[in-house]
Amino acid sequence: MTLIDNTPALSTGFPLVDDDPSRHRFRVHRSTMTSPEVLREERERIFARCWLYVGHESEVANPGDYVRRPLAGRPVFMVRGVKSGRVHVFHNTCTHRGAVVCRHKSGNSKVFQCFYHAWTFDSEGELKGVPDREAYGERLDFDALALRPVARVASYRGFVFASFDEDIVELEEYLAGAREYLDLIVDSAGGEMEIIRGTNEYCVDANWKLLCENSVDGYHALPTHDTYFKYLVALGTDLKQGVQGVVRDLGNGHAVVEYSAPWGRPIAKWEPLFGEHSREEITNLRADLVAKFGEQRAGRMADTNRNMLIYPNLVVNDIMAVTVRTFTPTAPDRMDVTAWEMAPRDELPALRQRRLDSFLTFLGPAGFATPDDAEALESCQQGFSSGGVEWNDISRGMAREPHADDEAQMRTFWRRWQSQMGPSAYR
Ligand code: FES
Ligand SMILES: [Fe+2]
Repeated sequence: MTLIDNTPALSTGFPLVDDDPSRHRFRVHRSTMTSPEVLREERERIFARCWLYVGHESEVANPGDYVRRPLAGRPVFMVRGVKSGRVHVFHNTCTHRGAVVCRHKSGNSKVFQCFYHAWTFDSEGELKGVPDREAYGERLDFDALALRPVARVASYRGFVFASFDEDIVELEEYLAGAREYLDLIVDSAGGEMEIIRGTNEYCVDANWKLLCENSVDGYHALPTHDTYFKYLVALGTDLKQGVQGVVRDLGNGHAVVEYSAPWGRPIAKWEPLFGEHSREEITNLRADLVAKFGEQRAGRMADTNRNMLIYPNLVVNDIMAVTVRTFTPTAPDRMDVTAWEMAPRDELPALRQRRLDSFLTFLGPAGFATPDDAEALESCQQGFSSGGVEWNDISRGMAREPHADDEAQMRTFWRRWQSQMGPSAYR
């Protein structure tokens, strides 16, 4: 280990990620999960400077459709302009004296009237009405008082992102290798996907980065989700082949694990859980994919699973269903999580039903996985408060070409995290 830079990474006074490939050592200091100073720095250095997922275009399919969102804890709303047809993301604050302008979670409206003094804005953000207009004289500048858009907004294949950083790189460049994986999902769904109405929202008493790790962590699957695997075996699924796969660093902190897994996939891989009656239909779906994309790409779509982390806080998991999940820290030891399910647009009702069952069985808030994962994350957070141990070990797979159940994908995240948070002190 060579000390190349002893600038304190943060106000904690020492480097927080110890990345030493020559010794196959990768450690993360636990203060990254517990310190309020770290969270404060993350808000400035990470959440204010990345592209963040806002929502999906299908959620605002029609002119005037809107959804209210917290974006890294800051209230914003996404609306499709009635005149322009464009998707806007506005800071959700009245230009008069601050009140939140869009107060409903979602809906359709041509106008947004602030409830405090009743200023009215249209779906393009323009200020349209001010009660007692005369009181302001002739010079009231309506243009300057329009709703303020978030600095940058862009979408990729229906996924809408925004950034508070005017100077951030283009979204496509930022997404880097993650684009190929979003393409794979959207192409396998016939080119257009939609968010299924209904959102899972929950809090976890754990640091937000624990969920980044967990969402792409193959190592935990068998021990943590033992009940689910036993359930599959009881239904007749063969688990003996285990999980085979690869890990990819997609650039800019994004990472994916891509693996074959024994469970079924509504896209086109049958399993006993889906019932004998659906076997033929799923076989046909698969044949369609092969005809369209060739055996190799169709095989990836139908048979392999993907857990992808798009840095910093978007997870798109294409496993027994496609789930989109984003999360925001509210304290060092607490986060708000929002999860949606995605499906091919205009899917046949029977397929949609199977997909919903599949989603809820494993990924839903009362499914086999999510409560187990939340329990594991909260348990880590409790463990941190015990003290005595300073570092987490994230070195699995450093001594070999990493497997899907190694920890290379987490190192990808943490290296990017370190580079945004402060200079790396080791090499
Ligand atoms: S704060 Fe919105 S109208 Fe006054
Ligand atoms: Fe899990």
